[in-house]
Amino acid sequence: MKYGSLLTLAVTVTVGALAVSTAPPAAKAPAPPADTWFSPPVLQNTSTKAGVVELDLTASPTRLEMVPGKMTEAWAYNGTVPGPTIELREGDFVTVHFHNKLAQPTTVHWHGLHLPAGSDGSPLHPVLPGASRNYVFRIPLGSAGTYWYHPHPDMTTTEQVAKGLYGALVIRPAKDPLEGIHDRLLILSDNRFQADGTVDLPHHTTVQGNTDAQNGREGDVLFVNGRTMPTISLRPGEWQRLRIINSAAARVFRLAIPGQKLVHVGSDGGLFEKPREVDELLLANSERVEVLVRGGSPGSRALLQTLPYDRYDFQTRPKDWEQPRDLVELRTSTDPPAPEYTIPSALRIVRPISTKLVAARRTIVFAQGMIDNKLMDMTRVDTRVRLDTTEIWTIENVVGMDHPFHLHGFQFQVLDRNGVPEPFVSWKDSVNVPKHSKVRLVVRFENFPGKWMYHCHILDHEDMGMMGILEVR
Ligand code: C2O
Ligand code: CU
Ligand code: CU
Repeated sequence: MKYGSLLTLAVTVTVGALAVSTAPPAAKAPAPPADTWFSPPVLQNTSTKAGVVELDLTASPTRLEMVPGKMTEAWAYNGTVPGPTIELREGDFVTVHFHNKLAQPTTVHWHGLHLPAGSDGSPLHPVLPGASRNYVFRIPLGSAGTYWYHPHPDMTTTEQVAKGLYGALVIRPAKDPLEGIHDRLLILSDNRFQADGTVDLPHHTTVQGNTDAQNGREGDVLFVNGRTMPTISLRPGEWQRLRIINSAAARVFRLAIPGQKLVHVGSDGGLFEKPREVDELLLANSERVEVLVRGGSPGSRALLQTLPYDRYDFQTRPKDWEQPRDLVELRTSTDPPAPEYTIPSALRIVRPISTKLVAARRTIVFAQGMIDNKLMDMTRVDTRVRLDTTEIWTIENVVGMDHPFHLHGFQFQVLDRNGVPEPFVSWKDSVNVPKHSKVRLVVRFENFPGKWMYHCHILDHEDMGMMGILEVR
């Protein structure tokens, strides 16, 4: 078993020594800790002024242990995979000093944030090898939630994310309605390696490469915060809050704890008005959920799994798609039960975007690899909208494979899915559009004019041109 690797850096340093002295003296071997939880380090704020955040972030090649026992040539933010977690508060003035030490252009995209177009890290603003860029933005009030950051260069996002460039960003409100309960981050991803530990990125002309291009690249190794099958420990009856991010290029997670309900409290743009009990949650690429889970009886165990979900085209559906996969073990300790905790019945107010004045209604058509029958062109504007207007968009998927839609810069609200009204209001920036279906959403374009991306968040599809450019003016 692979307990104990607490820090990526520590692994890098000790791995040579492990080869010589693998077996610890049997009698003295300590019992593995009940909680093998690992969270990426929090990125240090170098400013001392209240409400001002200054961060340093560097993307560079590095060698680290991504899968136990193997060294991988990775690309990492500040040397760790996932990258350091960015912790912010509503109202913060943020400057990220970013340095590109990769041998190719990159950007840092702040997925889900409402910020000036020039700081969005879209492919229109590449950071060249050896260059630096400051990303400057303010965190809006009311935007507390779970977000993430990743590269967004023209056509090479899949490779850069697969090599290790992704990290979480958490925004906290002045007063958190769920204050006091243990809060954990779960960055879900998958990857595939060659025997020597190299990240497996076959060219699209190979059989596997072609499957990757069709389905989006899935990996057989499932990661939670860069670890495989970590353990969460809870006290009997204890509630914990899980902030879950799907940072996989293409894998969709259908999350469930068999035998247990999940309390779904939030989505991409933060908490709902009220908690809702569910049996399972579908988490498409780049989406986030917040759920509350509870410890069971003393000594009991449960599994957070991803259940089979058929997002595929019949021709390229993987052989093992019907296999459930384990993600995390939840272990209830034999400690005294946790003190009683009542989940608040009202979390916050989430106002529906008014649809009284709708400036335009449009339909965006998703086909395999294309949007509105076009491939992405960096020099073209596909959709023009007026600043300070509200629009209703229908995203229509006309093919036999799911494609998750993502819009940069502006959070939206889903109105209905295939005509079925969304049962509750929530802020989202990504929504799955299942095969042969339609999703209708309402969005208000305010504060930030400029050029923005909308695209399928299967990274291979995005790279191949399943992306459009929106101009707000
Ligand atoms: Cu998460 Cu355009 O990206
Ligand atoms: Cu985005
Ligand atoms: Cu797609």
